[in-house]
Amino acid sequence: MTEPEPPSVAALSLAETATQPVSKATEQEINPWDVQAAVDEDGNVKEFDYAAISQQWATKLVDDALLERFERVTGHKPHRWLRRRLFFSHRDLELILDTYERGEDFLLYTGRGPSSDAMHIGHTIPFEFTKWLQDVFDVPLVIMLTDDEKFLFKEKLKQHEVYEFSRQNAKDIISMGFDVEKTFIYIDSEFFTSGYNRHFSLNATEFEKLITNNQVRGAFGFHGSTNIGSNAFAAKQCVAAFASSYPFIWGQDIKTYHRSQKLAAMPCLIPCAIDQDPYFRLVRDNCSRMDHPSPKPALLHSKFLTALQGAGGKMSASNPNSAIFMSDTEKQIKKKINNHAFSGGQETLELHREKGGNPDIDVPYQYLSYFEDDDAKLLRLADEYRKGELLSGEMKKECVDMMSQYVKKFQDARSKVTDEVLEEYLRPRKLEWKGNPNPTKPKVEKTEETTQGGPTLDADGKPMTKNAMKKALKMAEVEKKKKEKEAAAAAKQ
Ligand code: TRP
Repeated sequence: MTEPEPPSVAALSLAETATQPVSKATEQEINPWDVQAAVDEDGNVKEFDYAAISQQWATKLVDDALLERFERVTGHKPHRWLRRRLFFSHRDLELILDTYERGEDFLLYTGRGPSSDAMHIGHTIPFEFTKWLQDVFDVPLVIMLTDDEKFLFKEKLKQHEVYEFSRQNAKDIISMGFDVEKTFIYIDSEFFTSGYNRHFSLNATEFEKLITNNQVRGAFGFHGSTNIGSNAFAAKQCVAAFASSYPFIWGQDIKTYHRSQKLAAMPCLIPCAIDQDPYFRLVRDNCSRMDHPSPKPALLHSKFLTALQGAGGKMSASNPNSAIFMSDTEKQIKKKINNHAFSGGQETLELHREKGGNPDIDVPYQYLSYFEDDDAKLLRLADEYRKGELLSGEMKKECVDMMSQYVKKFQDARSKVTDEVLEEYLRPRKLEWKGNPNPTKPKVEKTEETTQGGPTLDADGKPMTKNAMKKALKMAEVEKKKKEKEAAAAAKQ
C-alpha cells in the first residue's frame, strides 16, 4: 500500500466550505486494488450499488434485448449468470455478436492476479464463465496470470512466491475444463522472458509511450511515491488484449520485428469483474492510436460474489470462514454454511412458519441462485421460503449439496492436472479453433499493410483479386443498407 498524497489546494478549500455533519458513512470504493462496499451513518456495511458504478463508468447494463440477440446469434440459451445478471454490465458486446455473425474470429482474454495459492468459489466464477464463452463461440483464449502485478503491488510478496502461486492457480484454472487446443495460459514473469514475447513487448513499449503519468494517476490513483513498475504494469494488462501480441497462436513468425496489422485489427472480448474496468478503459481510449490500430476491446463485467457473512462482505483468502475454498472438504463446506452463512430466516421455527424468510438476503439462497441452473426450482425455493414452508436449515442443506457437488467436480478434475498437463497449456504454440460454423452475414475484408500500399488480403491472408475486392465491397454496401433499413424500421416501432 502506498501513502496518500497531501490534499490539493482545491480539495482543501472544498473541505472548508463543506457543511455536512461528521458521520461514519463512506462511499463504495471499487478499483483494481481496493473493493469496499459503502457504509451508512451508523457504520453498517451496505450492499454494492452496481447500477451506480455502471452509470458512473458509463458501461451498459445487460438487458433482455441483448440476451435475446445473444441467443439468436449463438443458438445458445444465455448462461444463468447472464440471465440472473451476475454478469450485469458490458461494453460493446453487440460488436462481438456482429463479428461472430460474420464468421470472423475474435480473441477471448481474461486473467488473474495470483495473490495466494488458495482459490475460493468467487475466484472460479470468471473462469467458469469464460470456459462457457469459449464453448459457445469456439474462439482462441488467452489467460494472463499477473505475478509481476501482484509482486509490484503487494509490499510483502517475493517474486518466487507469486510465481509459485501462479503455477498452483493455473492448475486450478485448467481444472475448470478449458480446451488445451484453444487455450494459452501464461505467467507474466515466465512469458515475458521466453523469447516468444517479442510482439507483446513491442506492443507494450509502444503503448507505454502513449500513456502519461497523469493518465495512470487518473485511472488508478497513483501518486509520486508509487513505484515505477506499477505505472508501467498497466500497459501490459492493456496490450494483452491485442491479438498481435501473440502471433504464434496464428502460426505466425515471432522473430520478426514486424507485427501483424491484421491481428492488431482483431476484436477482443474480456470477461472480468467490474473492478478491472479502469485498465480496459485505458486500452479502449488509446488503442486507436497504435501504429497498427486495434478496435476497442469489448467487456463483460461481473459483480462480486457475496461473502458467507452476507451483503457487502468480501470473500478473503485470509479469512477461511468468509468463503468456500476449492480445497474444502464436504465436511468443511457443511460446517461453514451451517455456522457462518448469513440467513434470511426468522429467529425461531414458530416465527419462521408464521412470517416466512427473506431469500433476497439469505446467503445460502444467493449461492443457489448462482449455481442452480433450473430457474423453476429456484423460484419454487424462494416462494416456499417466503411462505415459511421451507426452513432456513433446509435451504442450507440445498446449498451444502450444491456447493459440495461443485467443489467435488473441481477436485476430481484438479487431481488430474499434473506438471506435464500444466506445461502444455503454458507452451506458446499455434492454437486450433473453428469459430462460427454458420455465419449469416458476409465478412468485412480487412487489409494487411494498407498503410504501406501492400495488397488487400482475403480472410485466409491471400492477396485478393480486383474482382473479389469489388464483390466484397458490394456485399459490405448491401449489408450496410440492410442495417440502415433495419435501424429505420426499429426506430418507427
Ligand atoms: N489484474 C487482474 C487481477 O488482479 C489480473 C488480470 C490481468 C485480469 N488481465 C486480466 C483479470 C483480464 C481479468 C481480465 O486479478
